[in-house]
Amino acid sequence: MKKSSAKSSPGSGQILPVNQNTRALEPPENSETLRPDPQGLLGNTPIDLKTLKGLVNKSVLSVKDFDRKTVVELCRFSALLEVMEIAPYHLLDGKIVITAFFEASTRTRTSFESAALRLDGKIISIPDAAITGVKKGESLGDIGEMFNAYGDLVIMRHTETDALERIRRNLRIPLVNAGNGSGEHPTQALADWYALLKWKPELAARKGRKQNGGLHLGIMGTPGNMRAVKSFLLMSLIFEENFRRITVISEMADPLGPELRAEIESAGIEFQESSSIQEVIADLDVVYMNSIAFLGDSYRTLDSQNKIDKQSPLKKDAVIMHPLARLDELDTGLDNTRHNLYFAQAHGAVFVRQALLAAIFDRFDRLPEGIPLA
Ligand code: CP
Repeated sequence: MKKSSAKSSPGSGQILPVNQNTRALEPPENSETLRPDPQGLLGNTPIDLKTLKGLVNKSVLSVKDFDRKTVVELCRFSALLEVMEIAPYHLLDGKIVITAFFEASTRTRTSFESAALRLDGKIISIPDAAITGVKKGESLGDIGEMFNAYGDLVIMRHTETDALERIRRNLRIPLVNAGNGSGEHPTQALADWYALLKWKPELAARKGRKQNGGLHLGIMGTPGNMRAVKSFLLMSLIFEENFRRITVISEMADPLGPELRAEIESAGIEFQESSSIQEVIADLDVVYMNSIAFLGDSYRTLDSQNKIDKQSPLKKDAVIMHPLARLDELDTGLDNTRHNLYFAQAHGAVFVRQALLAAIFDRFDRLPEGIPLA
């Protein structure tokens, strides 16, 4: 039998079994890689069930499907799932999730599948468009009609931005956008913010910019063309008072495009652009970076002149975030340093995706008594 320890649940005094599966997430010996403790975000107040119930049966297509309270409560629910042993409660028992990936993925598909399997859900996994009728010219509309009968929720990645509308024409079960061309990647933004809120739980509380001091966020890449960067930026605007300034670092002439530029301007946050990371790196508190964009019908590497390595003059406490996959913009020499929040983003994604699936399927009633939900 598995050895189990126990921890007190916030706000209840109840003892919860501790999640044994997170041991493998511990950084290697002598590594300073960040692995922020979820307990700080969980705090001592119950998670707001009414807010999470707003996700029941909903599709997730864009960061704009979330308000601040929902992001915070979903991340706190993720923290609960990270600290407690959830397997005995079979949250997704009887549910079938279809992961339909018409474009390559390492993290998103496997972390969603891991999330569902660890909660006893079942998976129909499509890792490649070439094994579907798409190869024969079948439409996404027809595929959506079939999925209604085969599963209870679809998680789709596609090379084309308008693929969501096409499959939704006939789809009557919830759809989660796992990346649509250069469009959005909203669940990556949730994983990003889960890592950030664990790192600094005070970012969750709404305070004025002046009281906070504020962080300088550097975004290294082209948000207009990189869906993960775009979704992270949009979600950061929900938490805008935590930032004293946002700097976009890109070699592209217009890294934002008109819509994102208007979003930033209406948030009223101080904003600047730079073509070189060297100009700003010493003042950044958070660096969010990426170099791969899906443009037209292929991947392209953008902003390849801007790179960070162990010799870069980062502030002592600055954190680096990256949705991964990386190329040589982020040197592996940083992996064992205290700047590395990017592995926490990828690891925490399983818990965020568990929380999201459990909320969409309204499986809160499966949780044991004593769970701090109110
Ligand atoms: N972050 C991310 O979307 O990674 P994958 O492309 O591997 O899914």
